[in-house]
Amino acid sequence: MAAQLATTFTGLRFENPFLLASAPPTESDSNIMRAFDAGWGGVVTKTIGLHPVVNVDGPKTKFLRATPESGHLSMQKRPGTALHSSWNWELISDKPLDWWVPRISRIKQAHPARMLVASIMAGSGSDEELRHWQTLATACQNEGADALELNLSCPHMDRTDMGSNIGKDQGLISIVTQAVAEVARVPIWAKLTPSTTDIVVEAGGAFLGGAAAVTSSNTFPSLPLVDPGTLEFEMNVDGFVSSGGLGGPAILPLSMAKMAQLTQAFPDKSFSGIGGVSEFAHALNYFLLGCGTVQVCTAAMLDHAIGPNIIASLLSGMREAMERHGWTSLDDFRGIRRDRIVTHSRIRRPDAKAYHGGYEAEGYAAADR
Ligand SMILES: Cc1cc2nc3c(=O)[nH]c(=O)nc-3n(C[C@H](O)[C@H](O)[C@H](O)COP(=O)(O)O)c2cc1C
Repeated sequence: MAAQLATTFTGLRFENPFLLASAPPTESDSNIMRAFDAGWGGVVTKTIGLHPVVNVDGPKTKFLRATPESGHLSMQKRPGTALHSSWNWELISDKPLDWWVPRISRIKQAHPARMLVASIMAGSGSDEELRHWQTLATACQNEGADALELNLSCPHMDRTDMGSNIGKDQGLISIVTQAVAEVARVPIWAKLTPSTTDIVVEAGGAFLGGAAAVTSSNTFPSLPLVDPGTLEFEMNVDGFVSSGGLGGPAILPLSMAKMAQLTQAFPDKSFSGIGGVSEFAHALNYFLLGCGTVQVCTAAMLDHAIGPNIIASLLSGMREAMERHGWTSLDDFRGIRRDRIVTHSRIRRPDAKAYHGGYEAEGYAAADR
């Protein structure tokens, strides 16, 4: 039987399981239309909010590259380097809801079979802020958005009741998700921050509030490097910098670790994996851990803004892998490596009896003396 790339995720039919993540590639209707023409199964819009947004002066994103021979890392463009990561301090969409509303409808009319997920964000400090979530959710779904992704994870917000500051609080996650669930007729995805002690706790809050899926990861809190010549941060405004988000290849193993925790804790729930994907071999990691869809940002930004070559290679890579392994649909391989992640004590030793697990206080305490 021919390999079937189509899949159902949170009750929605995706032509293929690859989405553009919420970010610059999905900041406009023209980009989103181009993305669908290029073959993406879905897109998540750049996060839409109700409060006005003014970004920093100068670039909002840059790319950190490594020189293979020396290991030198720098944002300076130079030949012969390999991409290490993206770094950004971009805020949510600077376009108001009124700008997005007719566009969501137009995109859906042009591409009814492609999945359009509206990413939304408001605060959580008052009933009025919770109503903002409902206003955003209602407006987007009325225009035809197929799902809502709650941005509980933007890492660079000063407001303590927004973004990853909500995503660090299980109770707030539940309250916000529930507020959206009260008005939502479409599935809710909760995009969580990787920057917490135990993401399983926050995911529990999202599912309790009514989320149909959890998305992970948003970018990891990080700083740009200091240029050793000028002693200035490679990204700064008037010499100043603020914590921003790391994406791209560097975060793939980090994000996988978060996803493994999630899919092991909730084997029957739905997960959308993000972080460091630019080819099918990368996406495969998330599917093998149990994800039903995979999202891409950094790699698409570097490929004609919306990733036409990336999606082509994801689709051909998925077909080839399915043929090689004899899989007919994503269900044949989703989650088949989830149970290979075990506690350290379950990893075989040359001599099992020699393993002490670090619990023996005697000897352990004496070692330094
Ligand atoms: C410039 C930039 C802007 C982003 N804006 C948003 C956003 O508005 N909402 C959101 O949920 N995530 C946003 N993200 C995070 C991405 O959706 C994604 O989670 C992250 O970049 C990791 O994926 P990657 O490794 O493929 O880049 C942004 C990322 C970048 C690089």
